[in-house]
Amino acid sequence: MDRNILCSKTATIREALEKINLNVKGTVFIVDENDKLCGIATDGDIRRGLLSGLTLDSGITGVSRKEFVYAHQGESIKEIFEKFNEDIRILPIVDQDCRVVDFSEYKSNMRLPIAQPQLNGKEMEYLLDAFLSTWISSTGRYVTEFESSFARWCGMPCGVAVSNGTTALHLALTALGVGEGDEVIVPDITFAATINAVLYTGATPVIVDIEEDGWCISPDEIEKAVTERTKAVIPVHIYGQPCDMERIMEIAGKYGLYVVEDCAEAHGARYDGRKVGSFGDISCFSFFGNKIITTGEGGMCLTRNKELEEKLRLYRDHGMSKARKYYHEVIGYNYRMTNLQAAIGVAQLENIDQTLAWRSNLEESYRKKIAGIDGIEMQRNDLRKREKVTWLVTVCVEKEKRDACMNAMTEMNIDARPFFIPLSEMEIYRKYTFSNRVSTELAERGFNLPTSYMINEEEVDRVVRALRQVV
Ligand SMILES: Cc1ncc(COP(=O)(O)O)c(C=O)c1O
Repeated sequence: MDRNILCSKTATIREALEKINLNVKGTVFIVDENDKLCGIATDGDIRRGLLSGLTLDSGITGVSRKEFVYAHQGESIKEIFEKFNEDIRILPIVDQDCRVVDFSEYKSNMRLPIAQPQLNGKEMEYLLDAFLSTWISSTGRYVTEFESSFARWCGMPCGVAVSNGTTALHLALTALGVGEGDEVIVPDITFAATINAVLYTGATPVIVDIEEDGWCISPDEIEKAVTERTKAVIPVHIYGQPCDMERIMEIAGKYGLYVVEDCAEAHGARYDGRKVGSFGDISCFSFFGNKIITTGEGGMCLTRNKELEEKLRLYRDHGMSKARKYYHEVIGYNYRMTNLQAAIGVAQLENIDQTLAWRSNLEESYRKKIAGIDGIEMQRNDLRKREKVTWLVTVCVEKEKRDACMNAMTEMNIDARPFFIPLSEMEIYRKYTFSNRVSTELAERGFNLPTSYMINEEEVDRVVRALRQVV
């Protein structure tokens, strides 16, 4: 800490101004001889004092604010952040004896990231506990606790924790026996992991178009793409939006297809009151750092089927027999989650209601501010039976304006992320395309806005101002 931010309570206004001149913060924290905080004075307070008749040789305590805001060492970034407002841009941080040990400063041009993990619950405590227990690999109480608590939260009987969302998808398809000669239907708009998992098994992916309204895989297109070789379909609940699970399950039933839900982006979303992840034969989650619940890297498969659960566990752990150690029944993988990752997951799940609420409040705030602007369309949140969650706030503009919007945001130090590039547009996947009319049109218009838990109303305004300038 630059000690020029501190000013003795016996100093004069002149001495305080000299400090402000050096610290370039427009503020001094007034302290006693032990650095104990007694007050705060800004250059504005000093100006008002001088105008009311004080002189440069008057004592600084004559202008210092009697009521001032500070933070304690150990308060979370979010707690500190909530103390800032239009007047308060700099806060002293004090120890248990009220001595100034640091300060926190709000900058109105602060970079707004697209996403940020929210780690202000017991993540550190449980992580340390797992570390100190020395169970730092994939055996340990946090793994079993995370598996059962996450599955329960999704309304499912069991979960198998894995190293990431991609391995979850690969494991699920492997456990279902998907392989060479099979076809698996995937949506054109998704992250590449969905189609890659199909390709890892040797099966052939079939890329189909998305719905105009929900942006998820189109049930009509699934049905058109079914052949005798179709073995499974992977509905992806995209950007927090649940797929039309009623129709998808109906089609899967009609043609005898497995359903592997990709829930990476929609933890907690519901269809007809039921959480996503509770419909398919196996559902897969990602806990990457930008996901609603994170474990750093991590994933989970959920299933109701005991036999499939056994298979998932077998393939996850090198295909090693449960009954006979070091006897390998199948060619398996090491797709296990560590106890350290799971410790973070257990803490994340404890705060999930709060996390979902602030995400949805943030989206609501964007919606209100964007509502009056012609030319910006937000992701739908009013579809029948679907209760979306907020993963990344997503908007669409005219395709000619999309890049200009994103550039305007970048110039204002605001991160923007373009829509997923349709799989059908990429050289390595193009040959698997069945249909892509809606997806290609939408992808040119869509982008994500910062959905970080550190964003306040003022910053939503900053983002919307950037958009308004362009559209
Ligand atoms: C739809 C979708 N599926 C799968 C994944 C893969 O998850 P992970 O990054 O944990 O491997 C992601 C995540 O990025 C995703 O968005």
